[in-house]
Amino acid sequence: MKTAPLIAALATSVVAQTTTTSSPTTEFTLQANNITAIFIPYGARLVSLQVPDRNGRSTDVAVGYDNSSMYPVDTATNHTYFGAVVGRYANRIKNHTFTIDGNTYNVPGNEHGGLNTLHGGNVGYDQRNWTVLAHNDSSVSFSLLDTSFENFPGTVLTTATYSVSSYPSGPQGQPRPRLTTKLVSVALDLPTPIMLSNHIYWNLNAFQASNILNDTYIWMPYSDRYIQTDGILIPNGTFGLTSQNPGLDFQSPKRIGAAVDQTSGHDYCGTNCTGIDNAFILDRPANIGADSVVPVFHMWSQTTGIQMDMSTNQQGIQIYTCVSQNGTIPVKPSQLRNSTGAAQYINPYGCIAIEPQAYIDGINNPQWGVDNLEIFSPETGPSVNYATYDFSTF
Ligand SMILES: *[C@@H]1O[C@H](CO)[C@@H](O)[C@H](O)[C@H]1NC(C)=O
Ligand SMILES: *[C@@H]1O[C@H](CO)[C@@H](O)[C@H](O)[C@H]1NC(C)=O
Ligand SMILES: *[C@@H]1O[C@H](CO)[C@@H](O)[C@H](O)[C@H]1NC(C)=O
Ligand SMILES: *[C@@H]1O[C@H](CO)[C@@H](O)[C@H](O)[C@H]1NC(C)=O
Ligand SMILES: *[C@@H]1O[C@H](CO)[C@@H](O)[C@H](O)[C@H]1NC(C)=O
Ligand SMILES: *[C@@H]1O[C@H](CO)[C@@H](O)[C@H](O)[C@H]1NC(C)=O
Ligand SMILES: *[C@@H]1O[C@H](CO)[C@@H](O)[C@H](O)[C@H]1NC(C)=O
Ligand SMILES: *[C@@H]1O[C@H](CO)[C@@H](O)[C@H](O)[C@H]1NC(C)=O
Ligand SMILES: *[C@@H]1O[C@H](CO)[C@@H](O)[C@H](O)[C@H]1NC(C)=O
Ligand SMILES: *[C@@H]1O[C@H](CO)[C@@H](O)[C@H](O)[C@H]1NC(C)=O
Ligand SMILES: *[C@@H]1O[C@H](CO)[C@@H](O)[C@H](O)[C@H]1NC(C)=O
Repeated sequence: MKTAPLIAALATSVVAQTTTTSSPTTEFTLQANNITAIFIPYGARLVSLQVPDRNGRSTDVAVGYDNSSMYPVDTATNHTYFGAVVGRYANRIKNHTFTIDGNTYNVPGNEHGGLNTLHGGNVGYDQRNWTVLAHNDSSVSFSLLDTSFENFPGTVLTTATYSVSSYPSGPQGQPRPRLTTKLVSVALDLPTPIMLSNHIYWNLNAFQASNILNDTYIWMPYSDRYIQTDGILIPNGTFGLTSQNPGLDFQSPKRIGAAVDQTSGHDYCGTNCTGIDNAFILDRPANIGADSVVPVFHMWSQTTGIQMDMSTNQQGIQIYTCVSQNGTIPVKPSQLRNSTGAAQYINPYGCIAIEPQAYIDGINNPQWGVDNLEIFSPETGPSVNYATYDFSTF
């Protein structure tokens, strides 16, 4: 592809012409029938997502804060990455270093006392003030010009475009609300790793129980492999079969609590950790195509009857069962239903993050053959992370 110089010129003019008059926490509300989503420029972040439960009651299924000014504060304290875009390279980089074309780069080690990089370094894309490019009642676009932030090589231009839609496609012609996320990144000068993801935390239970273990189910029909990691969640180069690791096997629908019980003693989410913080590989059947946008992840709550079906062009999904939440962050007051036994704070296993992405630390594991998914340059195509989230009730 020879479009990079053209895109670079366009990028420069777009960024130059777009003056940020709004604050990084100005809210942009998108609406379609039975779906309302709110985004802020700070981290190109989802802060609220309302869909109806089975009784038609509007339910915010995204974890975070009602007060958008809390997101920058959160970053300085608990740094949860709630709803943000993470990048330039999502997830972990072993020994905060990588080599491309014989050049070795060091980026900040911002986790485990400096042993590795997490989500792009000290100030990742989640903490950047993105520029608002365009918006209307059903879509918003943000951009970020990354001029070698955090010591990553070269300049990368990203647009994050979100939209909501709703078509009368249910069995009885009922609305099928959809959120679409689209992250497009272009390397403008040097070859560089690019792996972005949306870091949305979900609670389909409407926080009606202290955690989501008993009533929320997951089904990932194509996740037969996962990436094995060491005690601090750095890949050790090998893949495991989910069929041989029941705590990670969601090839048939499974209650999250049943899976978490099966993880006990296996340290899947790190040394002495019970739960899931793992990278699942999506092996779509040959007749579907490796990056076809077909549903690869399903989740539903027995309590609210809300179901979410995700499709993506990505080859993997990181799943995190909120094992490190410790009940200090309050549930959004707007989400409180005040039912008996409801959660008032975000407890351990009180939410789940679903991050569509390529292979964690693929840049340090050339034997996996995923450089085409993770290394981009002016000569390659763009990096595109596309996902749709469909909602329904049962
Ligand atoms: C969902 O859509 C149906 C059909 O248009 C409508 O009757 C209902 O009020 C909507 N519910 C919510 C919570 O928006
Ligand atoms: C929102 O959060 C900011 C930052 O913590 C705080 O200064 C402000 O008072 C909060 N606003 C409300 C209405 O709580
Ligand atoms: C970690 O990276 C540094 C800097 O690139 C290098 O000097 C060191 O040998 C690496 N350590 C390990 C254990 O690979
Ligand atoms: C984002 O904007 C806020 C205030 O508008 C500013 O304090 C902060 O430094 C900016 N962050 C970055 C990374 O530029
Ligand atoms: C917003 O813009 C998109 C893209 O051009 C368009 O498809 C959509 O219909 C617009 N929505 C509204 C409510 O104008
Ligand atoms: C889950 O179910 C078990 C067994 O019925 C019960 O002891 C526990 O309190 C429940 N937990 C939640 C969060 O509902
Ligand atoms: C990688 O870790 C898994 C457990 O997570 C272990 O079974 C496997 O032997 C390890 N592989 C290597 C090469 O260390
Ligand atoms: C794991 O638990 C064991 C036994 O309680 C303890 O000795 C060890 O220090 C723990 N390791 C870590 C990394 O927390
Ligand atoms: C909860 O986590 C926060 C942030 O990591 C920490 O500051 C706080 O001490 C923890 N609280 C408890 C009760 O463990
Ligand atoms: C984490 O967030 C909670 C709630 O906002 C707060 O009470 C706690 O002090 C924070 N932890 C740290 C280490 O600041
Ligand atoms: C739940 O309780 C909170 C705090 O007491 C209140 O602000 C909120 O309106 C209540 N919500 C509902 C749905 O009753």
